[in-house]
Parts: sequence; C-alpha cells; structure tokens
Amino acid sequence: MSLNSQIFNYAGLIILASIGSYAVYIGSQKWIRYQARVRRARQMPIEPLLHHDWRSEKPRQLRPFKPTYNITMGIQQDSFTARQFMGFVRGGEEATYELYSYLLTHHLPSRFPGLFKIHNNVFENHITGANFPAEPPHDPDYCLRVLAETVEEDIFLLQETESTHVCLAFACCHPAGFDPSAKLGADLKAIHGPVPHFEKIGPSMERYFRKLEVGKSVKRVNWNIQIGTDITNIAGNHIKEGDTFVSDEAVNCEEGFLRCELQSLTRLPETKFILFSFKTYMYPLGDIKAEGSGPELADAIDGLLTGNAPGLNKYKGAVRWGKGVKDYLRS
Ligand code: HEM
Ligand SMILES: *[C@@H]1O[C@H](CO)[C@@H](O)[C@H](O)[C@H]1NC(C)=O
Repeated sequence: MSLNSQIFNYAGLIILASIGSYAVYIGSQKWIRYQARVRRARQMPIEPLLHHDWRSEKPRQLRPFKPTYNITMGIQQDSFTARQFMGFVRGGEEATYELYSYLLTHHLPSRFPGLFKIHNNVFENHITGANFPAEPPHDPDYCLRVLAETVEEDIFLLQETESTHVCLAFACCHPAGFDPSAKLGADLKAIHGPVPHFEKIGPSMERYFRKLEVGKSVKRVNWNIQIGTDITNIAGNHIKEGDTFVSDEAVNCEEGFLRCELQSLTRLPETKFILFSFKTYMYPLGDIKAEGSGPELADAIDGLLTGNAPGLNKYKGAVRWGKGVKDYLRS
C-alpha cells in the first residue's frame, strides 16, 4: 500500500498501512509461522523517501474546518509526571511490543532510510543520535518511552472486547486538554465521557472499529482553537461539566492557534489491537489570517452552534474565546 506516502511525512512520522510483527516464540513451528507472517507483512511495499530533508519540509497545512460543525466520524511540565503521559495495563504488553518492532525495525528504516537505520540489531535515529534495541525488550514502559521519543504521533492501543474497545496502553505527550492517564483501561464511551453528543457517533464508531481491517488505515482531522502555546495541555482548552468560565473573555490572538490533530486508525496484524494515533499541528492564527482563511475559520466557529452538536461550542471553549477570535479573524 502506498497509503503511507499519502498520509505521513517525517515531521509526521507514522503510520501504518500494514504492521510487522513481534513475538518471542520458542517452539519451532511457531517460529516458522512467525517468520512467514513477518515476511508477509514486510512484503507490503513501503516507498522509501531517499532524499528526504526533514529540516526543510514544511509542516502539513491542515484546514479541516467547515461552515457548519457536525459531530461525525469524519473518516477519510514541571508539574507533570511521566505516569500521566504513558502507561499500560495488563493485556497491553504484546501490542506495545508489536508496534515497537514494526516501527523501529521495519517502517522507519524502510520509509526514511536516510534518517533511521538498523545496524547489528540496533535502531539508530540519525536525527537525534539516539540508539535503541531493534527488537523490543520485555518492558512495556521502556518501549512506550522509546516510541514517544521516536515518533511525533501520540498513540493509544485499544483491544476489542465483547461490547466495546478498551485502551490498554498509551504514550501521549500532546493531549489537547485532558489527562491521558485517566483514559487507561477505559472504553470508548468512558474515554469520550466529557464530549457532548458523543452518543451520536459512539455506536457507529464501535462498528467501524470492529470492521477495520489490517492494511486499511484511515484518517480523520480534528480542529480547535487554543489561546497559548502549550502543546501539552492536560486541563485547559475544554470546558467540562461543572467548570466555570468567563464568557467572551479578552483574548490575545497573537498567541492564538488553530490546533489540528491528524488522527489515524490502524489494526495491528498480530495482536489485532486498534492503534489510534494522532499528530498535533499548531498554526498561528496570524498565519491563517495572512493566507486569507480568516473569514472562513470565523464562519466555522459560528458553525459550531448550527450543526448537529451545538454542545461542542461550549466544550471546545468557543464561549470563552469565540468572540475575540472571530473579531480578529474578520478584521
Ligand atoms: C473514529 C474515531 C473517533 C472519533 C470520531 C472521535 C471523536 C472525538 C470528538 C468529536 C472529540 C471532541 C473533539 C474536540 O474537543 O474538538 C473527541 C475527543 C477525545 N477523543 Fe476521540 N474520537 C475517536 C477516537 C478516539 C480514540 C480511539 C480515542 C482513544 C483514546 C479517543 C480519545 C479522545 C479523547 C481523550 C478526547 C478528549 C476527551 C476529554 O476532553 O476528556 N478518541 N473525540
Ligand atoms: C451537517 O448536517 C446537516 C443535517 O444533517 C446537513 O444538512 C449539513 O449539510 C451538514 N454539514 C456539513 C458541513 O457536513
């Protein structure tokens, strides 16, 4: 699949049309089957970007906003602790190893041969100079940390259960206003607990996840406005039940951003977990205005109230920054 080439660049380093595999199998039959699977997964072609210069690559310019906001599937530090940004619970180990192995031994060195190399079973990151074992040590915390240091995407690994999907491992350094560790062990409904109107998409989301096939990744883009530069945000941005807020507060739009997440869903072929990943982009509102998209984004902010999910207007915080941002974008 050449899907990878369409969705990701480095500065946008994942993911995953097909996934390799990981296992430490002792029995020889299992070993042979494992090797066959690895070969199959790895035969899925990945087009190498031979002369990729990540320094001069302009970040992907996402403009996902529309004049009406409908909630849809839309498919197409100091006070922080490490525990808040990565973790696993029992059952999430193998999927973590599978993702580690696929990315470090297969995807990254194949797609970006100039940036990532495997030598003597060591993964070399030629951007940062970091080296890690090519095959995952049996330590999920370690593997999650390496993943967080190696790709810019945030990752959540979900296992299908009889009735839903549950998050069993994650590494998320760029939450847009939630505590990632609070989502560990939670199902899709609980994960989206604070999201108004989520019931409108919950059931189709579950069905969609169930049907997602190996090798058929999908993407969607989320957007919001953020005042302030914090790309890691565990409590701001969203207005949740019981939060107090100042309506139409004075905002400094010079410090305002259009914050987009390019999200992807991929099924891991070995463990069959769903990988939910997203890469965060922050575009200064001044840039949006300069390119002429200001009025369009202002209309999209108005559109939060006119679509099928008006509760998102408050949840996204537009009651707070909406007026100031719209005035700025239309001026
Ligand atoms: C097709 C799949 C999905 C859809 C359509 C979807 C949709 C949404 C929407 C509309 C929001 C509110 C966005 C906003 O604030 O602007 C949201 C928030 C969120 N989503 Fe999803 N989502 C999907 C999958 C997932 C998955 C797999 C996870 C796994 C962890 C996840 C985690 C979250 C979190 C943590 C929030 C913030 C909730 C909070 O404020 O506490 N989403 N999602
Ligand atoms: C939002 O939903 C309404 C009603 O279902 C529909 O008429 C409208 O075209 C949708 N807008 C967008 C931008 O999808």
